[in-house]
Parts: sequence; C-alpha cells; structure tokens
Amino acid sequence: MVGLQALKIMKNLPNGAKVITTPLTYIATSSSISWANLEPIYVDVDPQTFSITAENVKKHLKQAKNVKEYAVVLPVHLMGYAADIDAIVEVAKEYGLSVFEDSAQAHGTIYKGKKLGSWGDLADFSFYIAHNIQAGEMGALVSDNPEIARLAKKLKAQGRACDCVVCTRAQNKCPKIETYEGDDDFDPRFTHDLIGFNFKAMEFQAALGLTQLHKADWILAKRRENVKYLNSKLKKYTEVFKLPVFDEAVSYLAYPIVIKKPELISRKRLRKMLEDWGVETRPLFGSIPTQQPAYAFLKEEYQGKLPNADHIGLNGFYIGCHQYLSQEDLEYIVKTFDEVMREI
Ligand SMILES: Cc1ncc(COP(=O)(O)O)c(C=O)c1O
Repeated sequence: MVGLQALKIMKNLPNGAKVITTPLTYIATSSSISWANLEPIYVDVDPQTFSITAENVKKHLKQAKNVKEYAVVLPVHLMGYAADIDAIVEVAKEYGLSVFEDSAQAHGTIYKGKKLGSWGDLADFSFYIAHNIQAGEMGALVSDNPEIARLAKKLKAQGRACDCVVCTRAQNKCPKIETYEGDDDFDPRFTHDLIGFNFKAMEFQAALGLTQLHKADWILAKRRENVKYLNSKLKKYTEVFKLPVFDEAVSYLAYPIVIKKPELISRKRLRKMLEDWGVETRPLFGSIPTQQPAYAFLKEEYQGKLPNADHIGLNGFYIGCHQYLSQEDLEYIVKTFDEVMREI
C-alpha cells in the first residue's frame, strides 16, 4: 500500500494506471492496488510456481489496446516459489514499467543466485505470524531507490515532513528547519506535506522480528527439511495430489497441495477429514477476480480467462511446515493422510 503510493507519487501516475498482477494470492496485494486508486489487471499463473509468468505478462501487453495505460508489474512469489522475475524485469524494461515484487511469503528464497525482493524497483515482506520470519503482524518495504524509500518513510507516518534517516532534533540540529525558512517554530513531526497513513511499526514488534532474524537460517532450513520429509512420505499419493515441487533454493511458507482428482475427493471433504484429525488446513487463497466476493464486479470480465488460477483456487490448499513441528508431528501428518486415503 505505502510502496504503491510512493511509486505513484514518484512517477506521477494518474488514478487508474494499470498494474499487472497475479489473481492467485492473499487479497492484500489486490486491495493495496485498489486503495492506491490503481487498476489491477490479472494474467494467469504457472501451475508449478503459482506465480504469473513473463510470457503471460508479455502476451497481455502485446495485445493491449493502449500500453501507455500500464505502469507496474506486481508479481507475488507465492508460498516461497519464485516467479521468473529476471524475465519479468526484462519485459517491464521493454515497456517502461516498474516492478514491485510481493515477497511477503518468500523471505530468503534465492532465484538465479539472487534473493527475491532484490530484483525489482521495490519489494515487500510480511512478518505475519504464519510467515517464515514472524513478528505477529507488521511488514517491511525494501527498495534501492532512495526516493521510494524517502517517500515510503513519510507516507507510513501520515506524510509528515520528517525524512531524515536518523533524527537529530535532540541535538538541536533539525535540517528541516532550514527548509521552512522564516518559520523557526515549525515542528516537522507535525507538519505534513503528503496525505499518508499510519503504518508505523512498534519497537516491540521490531524486537520480535530482530530475534527471528538471528534464527532465520535455521528457520528456513527446518521448514525446507519438513517439506522434503512430507514429500518423501506422501509421494505415493501423487496420482491424486500434486505435491509441492522441492527445491533447495526455496524458502517454504507452507506445504501446498493441489487435488488432481477432485472427482475422487473434493477439497471441502479432504479439508474436513484432515481437520477432524487435527491437521489444520487453509485454502490456497482463491482466484481474486473470479472467486473472491470482494472483487465480484470483475467476475464476468475474467470468467474462463484464468484457467490455472481458477483450478488452483478451487482445488488447492496448504498445511503447515512450521519449524517447530517435531518428528512426531510430521509422522502424525503422514499417518493422517494414510487414514484419509484409506477411507476415500
Ligand atoms: C502475498 C501477500 N502479500 C501481502 C501481504 C501483507 O498483508 P497485510 O498488508 O495484510 O499485512 C501478505 C500477508 O500475509 C501476503 O501473504
């Protein structure tokens, strides 16, 4: 939200400028685009990575009536899997678009030797409790563009005039005073030159996040190991389920499964059975324009145009791969699947 608004101000984008993004994600991505008064445009996802592809972005731009209306490409690296972000950056360059990587679910994934979140103009990370690095709630915005960073810092604090990296007011050396010549009574903390939001993080949350950072390598490795273990034990069911592709370079948010044969078992029934055994599940978000009620106004326009997202949105779900799952917990999950499969 703050990042898109910063980009909008920096690039002087008009309301309604188009943002090519993914239909298959947590709704925060689309709602941020909408709240920034930009227009989300959806292209289909790759069934392996769950992310939009450079090919689909390019195909869309090639047939667009007016490419000048497009401003941003905003891929989401869902579940820790990388979109083909190098190729997306190339397509964006060709069309003069900015790239915003939603890396909220992908802390630590390495793609072609480089961490996700460092490929585009800016990226976000989420520290929501279910994510790889957790601070309860809260998130971070990263950019190597100093102007985006400056604007974001102001916007998250109600657009206040302050934009110093470190505040020097306590030493009576506020450089902002000079910029407001003739008004040495002004206080930059309560003078606002942008209309912003209150997205300030608390020190308490930052302390939690910092503690997690010290353990990040262990957390990411443990989650990866858990995914590997579950794959090794559940691979006997791959006729019915598409299990997550294992890759040492991926930082797994969770353990996503797509039901290949919904005629054999529906997601609703499977989730109910797993939950009855105490294995918690979540749907793989749904395809935003076709399956999320908040975006029902787009349903007709996108009907039949996003087959992969629609299929995964209806038949995909995930279970946990949390770092604190014990060997006993993992064995219990496998046993639960064995019981469920015996029953169907
Ligand atoms: C893909 C994705 N983008 C963005 C976010 C950030 O959401 P929020 O702004 O609600 O913290 C999340 C949080 O879970 C997410 O999964």
